[in-house]
Amino acid sequence: MQKSRRDFMRKSGSAVIATSLGFNILTAQNYKHKLNSDTLKVGLIGCGGRGTGAAAQATFAESNVVVTAMADIFKDSLDKSYKYLLEENEAKIMVDEEHKFVGFDAYKKVLESDVDVVILTTPPSFRPAHLEAAIEAGKHVFCEKPVAVDAPGIRRVIASAQKAKEKGLALMSGFCWRHDVPKIDTFKRILDGGIGEVSSIYNTYNTGALWYKDRQPEWTDVETMMRNWLYFNWLSGDHIAEQAVHSLDLMSWAYGDKLPVKVSGTGGRQSRTEEKYGNVYDHFALAYDYGDGKMGYHFSRQQKGCSRAYDISMMGNKGRAYIDVFKEHKIMGAENWQWDGEKSNMYQNEHNTLFASIRKGEPFNDGVQMANSTMLAIIGRMVAYTGETLTWDQAINSEEILGPKINEYNWDLDWALAPVAQPGITKFS
Ligand SMILES: NC(=O)c1ccc[n+]([C@@H]2O[C@H](COP(=O)([O-])OP(=O)(O)OC[C@H]3O[C@@H](n4cnc5c(N)ncnc54)[C@H](O)[C@@H]3O)[C@@H](O)[C@H]2O)c1
Repeated sequence: MQKSRRDFMRKSGSAVIATSLGFNILTAQNYKHKLNSDTLKVGLIGCGGRGTGAAAQATFAESNVVVTAMADIFKDSLDKSYKYLLEENEAKIMVDEEHKFVGFDAYKKVLESDVDVVILTTPPSFRPAHLEAAIEAGKHVFCEKPVAVDAPGIRRVIASAQKAKEKGLALMSGFCWRHDVPKIDTFKRILDGGIGEVSSIYNTYNTGALWYKDRQPEWTDVETMMRNWLYFNWLSGDHIAEQAVHSLDLMSWAYGDKLPVKVSGTGGRQSRTEEKYGNVYDHFALAYDYGDGKMGYHFSRQQKGCSRAYDISMMGNKGRAYIDVFKEHKIMGAENWQWDGEKSNMYQNEHNTLFASIRKGEPFNDGVQMANSTMLAIIGRMVAYTGETLTWDQAINSEEILGPKINEYNWDLDWALAPVAQPGITKFS
């Protein structure tokens, strides 16, 4: 039973937090790792599903990595995560009570501790400030996607990525498909000319409805939003940034990470219209113009009861390539090819690469790429919300900031939620 839960977690991105955490930790390995001067200490900031999974993966990346500090705004999230981590790899979880930090400034306390590496897995609104502070404090970083919710946030992230390079710090993003062996093999073939010059790409991220946590009597408005952050664009960036950004990242990969010139399209909120679902849309349809007639088409939705898709079709002048992200990877060209190899866990691969790069003294850094891929989602959202066609230059220079400044957060914050955007009425700024 215990083994199958572990196996599942290793294969998936997020930790599966058991509904009952009544497992007996005394049955787990009853010893602790012996620290030495080479031990890499990890701090986890944002102890939800993904953060817990990432922290466990860090401890499996190599033998001399331990977790020593944790931070969350909610004690219940931190406690759940800690218990899960103990079950996963007890010997490597060395977080004493003095290093469990709760609150909006908990991240600072992790950064003030003697950790070497931090895992940033809060909702993305906090990422630019957390990343900036982490690099300032001289920490290596694993940083989940999306990395910001607005253009000023992206610019801060790009500056932090540059600073990380200057300081010799590693910065690994959670654009996990970039570490998935079938996709690495397929995109290598495409970039090596396997389908000729790519000129048209269609990508999807069409899913059903997601979780919602019912408001409890003691929750303030801010706590209700923080507990349901997906539905508030100032916290999540909307679902195109929070989720569908993975498909946009695949599109970017196929185009050699060139930036589009301009974007147009639409989106809206048709089925998830109740007030509790905040101000996010439930579908987006966008056309990314890469110049010289090269286009990328994106379609994403989160609507219950509709067909699902998570795939990408790429057309070139010598053939086509198709990826259904979980099922198949194939090229149809002068030579037909289908991926048929040994699968590995891309989430584990990320951490293996990150820690190996730190050990080698050749720090991995995909910071600019992660910022640009996130910006593909942000420009898409701006276009859909306003109905305007926007150039990349306009969008990346936007001054619009979603949400309060990080030092303004508190549970009684009187934050006026922006209304649901209306194309033609909502203006780009
Ligand atoms: N790469 C992937 O496949 C993948 C998968 C899942 C999630 N993610 C990303 O990981 C991030 C986290 O997602 P999740 O599913 O783990 O969400 P989650 O809600 O399970 O976890 C987020 C955690 O952050 C905490 N938090 C919120 N604000 C905080 C703050 N200011 N300081 C400290 N802690 C704070 C929350 O209380 C919660 O415990 C998101 O950006 C999401 O898009 C990526």
